[in-house]
Amino acid sequence: MKILLICGSATRTSRTRGLIQAVERELRKRSDVELMSFDVGKDVLPLYDGSEAQAEDEAVKRLRSCAEQADGFYICSPEYHAGMSGALKKTFDFLSGSHFRGKPVAISAASGGSKGGVNALNNMRTVLRGVYALVLPDQIIVDPDHFNEQRELVNEEMQKRIQGIVDELCQYARSLAAGRQQQLQA
Ligand SMILES: Cc1cc2nc3c(=O)[nH]c(=O)nc-3n(C[C@H](O)[C@H](O)[C@H](O)COP(=O)(O)O)c2cc1C
Repeated sequence: MKILLICGSATRTSRTRGLIQAVERELRKRSDVELMSFDVGKDVLPLYDGSEAQAEDEAVKRLRSCAEQADGFYICSPEYHAGMSGALKKTFDFLSGSHFRGKPVAISAASGGSKGGVNALNNMRTVLRGVYALVLPDQIIVDPDHFNEQRELVNEEMQKRIQGIVDELCQYARSLAAGRQQQLQA
């Protein structure tokens, strides 16, 4: 079973990336999971312009190939001005229902604190509905005080919440992938 991790922050010292690393640690405990990752700070996409030439862009090709193979997604974004990051939205612009339909997606956000983060998550839910993704009802928001100075997630309660959401993501991804396989064989 393949899970694609998408980090929606391009900052160098990113809490969103620290959150993704905590998710990755949890996923690596599961022997049947093969991980793929896409990081908007490292896999730099162009702005979608509708031209056919963009299908040959290396980052676009990698993103689409990973998304096509994925049985499930874990997507994290920082909250910027009460929405997801522009870099993450730009990523979704290169994808469509063919990549997400019938596949589970877990979402989480890094906020600046003061009860932020939920607007980014709601924004992600709206966009993911637009590509027919099955977004899990559970979600996580991490605040700056959940991290140490190296931007590693050190809050134990959050680590447990991540464990729970990863469990759920894997259960859905496993059974939906098995259903797809049965349909192919029928
Ligand atoms: C341009 C900008 C806008 C932001 N807007 C919000 C916001 O609306 N709500 C919030 O909770 N935090 C906001 N923040 C704080 C970030 O969400 C927080 O610093 C987060 O850790 C950024 O992600 P990163 O560490 O991956 O860069 C904003 C930060 C920036 C740079």
